[in-house]
Amino acid sequence: MRPGKDYIVFPLDLASMAEALTYVRRLGDAVGLFKVGLELFIRCGPDVVAAIRSESAAGVFLDLKLHDIPQTVARAMAGVAALGVDLVTVHCGEDPRMLPAAVAAAGAATRVLAVTVLTSVADADLRGAGLDPGLVPDVRQLVRRRAEAARQAGCAGVVCSPWEAAAIKAAAGAGFLVVTPGIRPAWEGVGSQDQRRVTTPAEAVRAGADYLVVGRPIRDAADPVEAARRIAAEIEAAR
Ligand code: C5P
Repeated sequence: MRPGKDYIVFPLDLASMAEALTYVRRLGDAVGLFKVGLELFIRCGPDVVAAIRSESAAGVFLDLKLHDIPQTVARAMAGVAALGVDLVTVHCGEDPRMLPAAVAAAGAATRVLAVTVLTSVADADLRGAGLDPGLVPDVRQLVRRRAEAARQAGCAGVVCSPWEAAAIKAAAGAGFLVVTPGIRPAWEGVGSQDQRRVTTPAEAVRAGADYLVVGRPIRDAADPVEAARRIAAEIEAAR
């Protein structure tokens, strides 16, 4: 059985390589993957991936949320594959050719996750974007449609709210990865902040999540390593 720490994805939401590597050194044995988002990637460039690898045996999740015409995404993805990251994100978008192109270019070693619908999007935003309420009544339905498209395109899984995890697992099967942000342990003090719908680590794992993105509850804890260990223990107890 996977150790609880392997479920934890710690986002390096930091502005410099030095700050990022401080967290990599501290948390390298306490989490499964480090997530590099746009902020760090744009500031540090692709070298940040090798720098993380040189400091820790944890995996690297490149959260670039690519979205462009299929050929452009494929060419970018070939570069991502050369970096040797474990996970990378692509938006689902509307073009049915983009996700298969991304998967083909990523190769076998880099698993592609599709971002279904950003958790900042509300039902009313779908109407504003012109989506037909008869076809797409709410965000949940859109998430499920897009998760199915991602599965058919060969993606390894999706990023979604923990509230969607159980429905996606039921529809797509146990092998289809579900990665959920919006995690707040019941015992921590940072509150939900800008996350709208949160769950505890135990709830997310029981809903079927394979990886939990946990940022501020670890980063802002008095002892980040202890916070990560506590989350890992909660995950193991919940399975
Ligand atoms: O745990 P915390 O709220 O600090 O986690 C923030 C991280 O989760 C950021 O890296 C953010 O990009 C990521 N994320 C999110 N909501 C999503 C997708 C990703 O907060 N829907």
